[in-house]
Amino acid sequence: MGLVTNSRSLRTEATHEGLPVSTTAVLRRKLGNLMLLFAIFMVIAEIAFLSRLDMAKNAAMVDTVADFFYGSREEATFDHFAFDILRGDSNSEPESCEEWLEREDAVTYSRNFMTEPILVVGAAQEQISCSLGCKFGSDESRAPDASFGSPKRDGIAHVRRSMESTAYFHQNDIAVARRRGYDIVMTTSLSSDVPVGYFSWAEYDIMAPVQPKTESALAAAFISNCGSPNFRMQALEALENSSVKIDSYGGCHRNRGERVDKVEALKRYKFSLAFENSNVEDYVTEKFFQSLVAGSVPVVVGAPNIQDFAPSPVSLLHIKQLTDVESVAKTMKMLAENHEAYNQYLRWKHEGPSDSFKALLDMAVVHSSCRLCVHLATKIREKEEKSPGFKKRPCSCTRGSETVYHTYVRERGRFQMESVYLRSGYLTQEALKSAVFSKFTSLNHVPIWRSERHESIRGGNELKIYRIYPLGMTQRQALYTFSFKGDDDFRNYLESNPCAKFEVIFV
Ligand SMILES: *[C@@H]1O[C@H](CO)[C@@H](O)[C@H](O)[C@H]1NC(C)=O
Repeated sequence: MGLVTNSRSLRTEATHEGLPVSTTAVLRRKLGNLMLLFAIFMVIAEIAFLSRLDMAKNAAMVDTVADFFYGSREEATFDHFAFDILRGDSNSEPESCEEWLEREDAVTYSRNFMTEPILVVGAAQEQISCSLGCKFGSDESRAPDASFGSPKRDGIAHVRRSMESTAYFHQNDIAVARRRGYDIVMTTSLSSDVPVGYFSWAEYDIMAPVQPKTESALAAAFISNCGSPNFRMQALEALENSSVKIDSYGGCHRNRGERVDKVEALKRYKFSLAFENSNVEDYVTEKFFQSLVAGSVPVVVGAPNIQDFAPSPVSLLHIKQLTDVESVAKTMKMLAENHEAYNQYLRWKHEGPSDSFKALLDMAVVHSSCRLCVHLATKIREKEEKSPGFKKRPCSCTRGSETVYHTYVRERGRFQMESVYLRSGYLTQEALKSAVFSKFTSLNHVPIWRSERHESIRGGNELKIYRIYPLGMTQRQALYTFSFKGDDDFRNYLESNPCAKFEVIFV
């Protein structure tokens, strides 16, 4: 039993962390010898049976050998194998397609990230511990994988990381950054390679309870840069003109002089003016998330797609353009008078935010530097898989009329892949979902966000799948825009991408 179990786990490791080729070769030779032994044993057992000898002892021995060889009897087509051997059919496969693929598709990568971690230089030395081997800082002994600093060097990924709006920093625009030679872009844009958001469960106590609204003004504003390029100052003025009473604590239109803790102050107001300095997709800052913490309904000037960041469909008011101010002001006044209607906007505080909100915030559970490492390591693996001379993997296995497809799936934020098998009779997205569910359930998988989310919104122990998408997609695609166009499209994808890789988001 011991040898087989060991060889399995070694094989798994080889897949992910690159053991020397010789180790796998030796194991395979050993398995070959075992197979011969097993066949001989089976024949003896069968002869014993035919001779009507006392079988009890022999049967027990055969069982032991079967267990020894397969690990467990359920996994193997044991009876067919025995029968085939007696018929002299030596070409028969004793193992299932899954087992065969698990072995044949196992590849040995040249780099083990545990012994040779991803090296990123050019930023402040960060003491971050990632699930994958990552080193930040400088290491003179070898060339880095990526660099934040200039100048750009051949073979080293040039990374731009910034949380500023593209309205102020034009080169944060992904297309502009690419033109300037950045290989990896890390900005607030969910379309960037490794998004860096203002949001996280750790930084914002999103589920903090709602406090009584004791202030007489409808809304609070904390705006200190009065010269932003969007229309937020005009919006503020237009709101005031529409006789919405606003307490302004920031430098602009200041009418409350005291120094206050922003979130604590916001808790006392029905509304919070979450006016960003620019209206850029995905540029959503602490102004918005602090309003959510405070349980003060955000009135937003900012990202045109702010609804993607909403904790529930009805939870914010959006001033898309200056001409919206009048109707938003009307809504604010109406809600302020109507307790029940107003409370709808804070229902998520009691019932929990939507799955889409959880899926968005969970992204930040893994530090952006670690996500950069996973991104780099994944690219290195993919490059090696394409290189000529790299072992050709079958990736599918046909027996009779049925084909089994080998796919790899990992949880978003993690590096390690798991094997998931799909059968040609059931090549649907629903089948993938249920195969992923079974696989991760059988592994007793714990979602990566488990310890980060507030207790009240962790859910039970059962895994819940939010999205499965092809590896390499942006988070904008993964969370909001991508879907296969039906099961035909999904089948085509599998057939044209051998050993297809996916990521799963659990909520
Ligand atoms: C607000 O009212 C003042 C005074 O009537 C006016 O000058 C100003 O243009 C108004 N501002 C906006 C943005 O409507």
